[in-house]
Amino acid sequence: MSIIAPSLLSANFLDLRKDIEMLNQSAAEWIHFDVMDGNFVPNISFGIPVLSAVRNATSKILDIHLMIEKPERYFEAFCNAGADIITFHYEAATHLHRSVSQVHELGLKVGVVINPHTPVSLLADILPELDLVLLMSVNPGFGGQTFITNTYKKIHELKEMVSKTGKNILIQVDGGVNLENAGQLYRSGADVLVAGNAVFASPDPLAAIRQLLAAS
Ligand code: DX5
Ligand code: ZN
Repeated sequence: MSIIAPSLLSANFLDLRKDIEMLNQSAAEWIHFDVMDGNFVPNISFGIPVLSAVRNATSKILDIHLMIEKPERYFEAFCNAGADIITFHYEAATHLHRSVSQVHELGLKVGVVINPHTPVSLLADILPELDLVLLMSVNPGFGGQTFITNTYKKIHELKEMVSKTGKNILIQVDGGVNLENAGQLYRSGADVLVAGNAVFASPDPLAAIRQLLAAS
């Protein structure tokens, strides 16, 4: 399965409707929504009211990436605002198993995110409970950063762990994804690529989405 999830962090916030309408016309199946609290990461982005507005403008799958401390405080609010998938950080959740269960009880898909320094092996015991794993390929907090190449190795390791579970757990990669590395990421075993700048800084975002998918 190959999916592109354009990240709204790189969209034009003054004309968000236009960008959402572009995505509605595109081959992207998911829209990635980056929530930052200025605490877990050194940046603040957008949150629940913006998600509600986006939900009213699209039927695409809304993939919410929570870069916030104690994410469990907000699962229900993001669910009510229209989330389809919630991912939150291993590094920000104390009772990971409980938090994963809470998202499932809300009827949503759930994923755990790990930062570039966090080994995939730490996910061994939670993996069978997950719908997806998000590997950060930059340090979270900002769009437009340089891809960390150690991510390829992590995808390979995770792919092996996933196949041992016998379950269909998606591998998502986020940060510095572009036309140069998308092919190798898909071939390494990634299922979902998040792309911010590679889509929204392109003169032709629809073509950029098509080309990223064609790399798979
Ligand atoms: C970074 C965010 C990413 C970001 C990706 O903390 O999680 O989703 O928007 O942007 P690019 O693709 O420009 O690296
Ligand atoms: Zn993200």
